[in-house]
Amino acid sequence: MSKIAVLGSGVVGEVLANGFLKHQYEVMRGSRDPSKLAAWKVGAGPKAQVGTFEAAAKWADSIVLAVKGTAALSAIEQAGIASLSGKTIMDATNPIADSPPENGVLKFTTDLNESLMEKLQKKAPEAHFVKVFSSVGNAFMVNPNFPGGPPTMFICGNDAAAKTEVKGVLEKFGWDISDMGAVQAARAIEPLCMLWCIPGFLRNEWSHAFKLLKK
Ligand SMILES: NC(=O)c1ccc[n+]([C@@H]2O[C@H](COP(=O)([O-])OP(=O)(O)OC[C@H]3O[C@@H](n4cnc5c(N)ncnc54)[C@H](OP(=O)(O)O)[C@@H]3O)[C@@H](O)[C@H]2O)c1
Repeated sequence: MSKIAVLGSGVVGEVLANGFLKHQYEVMRGSRDPSKLAAWKVGAGPKAQVGTFEAAAKWADSIVLAVKGTAALSAIEQAGIASLSGKTIMDATNPIADSPPENGVLKFTTDLNESLMEKLQKKAPEAHFVKVFSSVGNAFMVNPNFPGGPPTMFICGNDAAAKTEVKGVLEKFGWDISDMGAVQAARAIEPLCMLWCIPGFLRNEWSHAFKLLKK
């Protein structure tokens, strides 16, 4: 796995694309309008390309999904379900609703009995979705440096080989890894985004990450 498509022109797409480039992968960022990524491409160097969702998904060995949660199902359709087949999809999305948070608590478009990643996995059954990067702010996704040591990235997904691949990425990106099992565990992982954001919305505190303590 050396060619990574990063579907997303937002800040998460940028941070993760730069992270993969830093760790010697080739990257194509995808957008409905690739021209908006032209300046990024110039600064990102010779291993960086831009294209449509479809072009990026076709070209890649593995794919990062970093689009708005409410657009995620449509974005994978635009990428082409056939192009996702057999590929690892690193799913950073959260199903955040358009309505504002209530006392700092984000609203979701999903409920606790079906996550966004389950819906994505159903729509693209041959793709290997792995939930990852969804439970931390973008500033800390790549090689976070906390005084308490590496924070924990919670992942899940149905395909063992895809999770092994993602664990390799997370080791390079400086994370402790906690594998929570199959796709249904995204019901628990996606809401960690709500918890992570509460101190931000209430007290403007955005510099933290979760750590699972064990004995
Ligand atoms: N921000 C964070 O720190 C953070 C942390 C963890 C997880 N996340 C999750 O990561 C994802 C990306 O977040 P973000 O803040 O970088 O950006 P964002 O504003 O949530 O998403 C931007 C991307 O969504 C795409 N998009 C929007 N509407 C679309 C539509 N109708 N059809 C297809 N694509 C559409 C845009 O496509 P175009 O390029 O075509 O405009 C763009 O690539 C979100 O799901 C978010 O919840 C964010």
